[in-house]
Amino acid sequence: MTAPLRLGVVGTGIGHSLSPRLHAKALELSGIPGNYAIFDCADADAARDVFAKLRTGELDGLNVTTPFKALALATADAWLRIAHHKAGVFTLPANTLFMQENRLVAASTDGPGLAAALLGAQVDLVGKRVLLLGAGGAGQAIAAELLALGAAQLRVANRSPEPAAALVARLNTIWPRHALAQPWGDARGLTGVDVVVHATRLGHGQTATAAAVTDLPAALDWLPWAAWAARPPLLADLLYAAGPTPLQALAQARGLPLDGRLAAAAIEEPRIHPEPREPIGILQYFGESMLAHQAARAFQLWTGARVDAARLRAAIVPAATSCT
Ligand SMILES: NC(=O)c1ccc[n+]([C@@H]2O[C@H](COP(=O)([O-])OP(=O)(O)OC[C@H]3O[C@@H](n4cnc5c(N)ncnc54)[C@H](OP(=O)(O)O)[C@@H]3O)[C@@H](O)[C@H]2O)c1
Repeated sequence: MTAPLRLGVVGTGIGHSLSPRLHAKALELSGIPGNYAIFDCADADAARDVFAKLRTGELDGLNVTTPFKALALATADAWLRIAHHKAGVFTLPANTLFMQENRLVAASTDGPGLAAALLGAQVDLVGKRVLLLGAGGAGQAIAAELLALGAAQLRVANRSPEPAAALVARLNTIWPRHALAQPWGDARGLTGVDVVVHATRLGHGQTATAAAVTDLPAALDWLPWAAWAARPPLLADLLYAAGPTPLQALAQARGLPLDGRLAAAAIEEPRIHPEPREPIGILQYFGESMLAHQAARAFQLWTGARVDAARLRAAIVPAATSCT
């Protein structure tokens, strides 16, 4: 009999991670025996100890989350390029680790997960102007995908300017003059953006109802909400929360409409996509969709088995929620 697969996630403050539910579903769907543990690590040394369990064979696969994604890349022996286009040329903070031919291999499934979630929601980025809020681990992982999907322009805004400037410089080596750094707090040039992707930690761990007492509305007050209410961009939030994310609640309060295309596809995403629609409004459940797609890709790297991301997503977005 095959030994059960030992999988898990490493991060800090991840007690409420949805990854165990996603991967329990992946194990069930694939018929592979195994388990998935949470390794909540206080510091880098503790995280390194968990990474080492891959080398000793005590673990078979790891997800890595904040704040250890850069450490995972630095610890690994090799980087696995999984994006099929030129977005794959960059090494990135890693969210997936596993052993291959005696080498510790790092990969990032966040970018391909984002791309699959956008395509699943029939969002066509070709020729679009995109604003990316956040150049941390997630922002870096997805920025190249946004350009690879055909965005004509990518503005990157980050609270501290250096990560945005570094990311923009790197992107422009592949897509000359497509990326530009948008100073945080400066809304010039933003009224006409078609798509906004939120990848900061603002609102992380908070519920929409608590948004009023968080720093999110004040931190994002500089965005041109009135202009966006008149001509709504599509708003995709990487955050996932039980119900609307704080940013989604803020955007709705500022007059942006809801776009329910992923909500309608919560259980079964369409196999044959109709013509892509113009992006408009708050894309509900985007964070959950991306999470499911990146999980499906990580599971495939560990096991070789392909699992249906829509069915993983159903494990974290109950049908009842999708109707609200
Ligand atoms: N749905 C998914 O599959 C998925 C995948 C990956 C990540 N995520 C989510 O994406 C978010 C970002 O994750 P990450 O891995 O990029 O985290 P990270 O590497 O720690 O980066 C944090 C980002 O948030 C910004 N930030 C933090 N506090 C801020 C504040 N008060 N005001 C403005 N900006 C602030 C940081 O800006 P500075 O550089 O100025 O500090 C940085 O851009 C998290 O909520 C995470 O859960 C979702």
